[in-house]
Amino acid sequence: MKKPYYKTDASVEEYIHLAKDVSGIELIEKLKDVLPIHATLLEIGSGPGTDWKILSEAYNVTGSDFSKQFLSRLESKYPNGDFLELDAVTLKTDKTFDALYSNKVLHHLTDEELAKSINHQLDCLNPNGIICHSFWKGEGSEIFKGLFVNYHTKSTLKEFFDEYFEILLLEDYKEFEDNDSLLLIAKKR
Ligand SMILES: C[S@@+](CC[C@H](N)C(=O)[O-])C[C@H]1O[C@@H](n2cnc3c(N)ncnc32)[C@H](O)[C@@H]1O
Repeated sequence: MKKPYYKTDASVEEYIHLAKDVSGIELIEKLKDVLPIHATLLEIGSGPGTDWKILSEAYNVTGSDFSKQFLSRLESKYPNGDFLELDAVTLKTDKTFDALYSNKVLHHLTDEELAKSINHQLDCLNPNGIICHSFWKGEGSEIFKGLFVNYHTKSTLKEFFDEYFEILLLEDYKEFEDNDSLLLIAKKR
């Protein structure tokens, strides 16, 4: 069977090249408004590690990904870094964190997987823990480069998160085009 995107060296090299000029620095600035410096934070889907590096300047960060290809690159580039092999759906770790962060990762989950992920996110968070996640904005879903992509609106995100998290910020932002993305920052109820 063909290995999925993000799980081959060629696709990981391609993604690293495509994403070389983008970062979540503006999202991280918004996170800093609500998450105290030096807090513990788990990044889900660290990929090339661009945001992991920025986050590490302010927080006690553990990076993670479900892709061994990304993880081995991260471990050799940042030998002192802390990285876990984690699937965003199951988040199998005994550790708990003050915050969870993901930048353009959870859109790869189906609605059912996102609901499961939210339950596991609650388990990984300390009391009053913060989540900071970005999504592609839109409706429906599609397959892109063989990968499932689930679009969200403010209203679908509220439906998923509102019961378990107090939403502190839910706003549009521009990744490539005006209002193509959504940022959610919320606090565990
Ligand atoms: C679009 S890339 C974003 C990478 C990085 N956050 C960034 O901003 O460049 C999606 C990342 O999520 C990871 N990913 C996708 N599905 C995942 C899952 N179910 N569990 C953990 N990581 C996943 C991929 O391996 C990849 O690193």
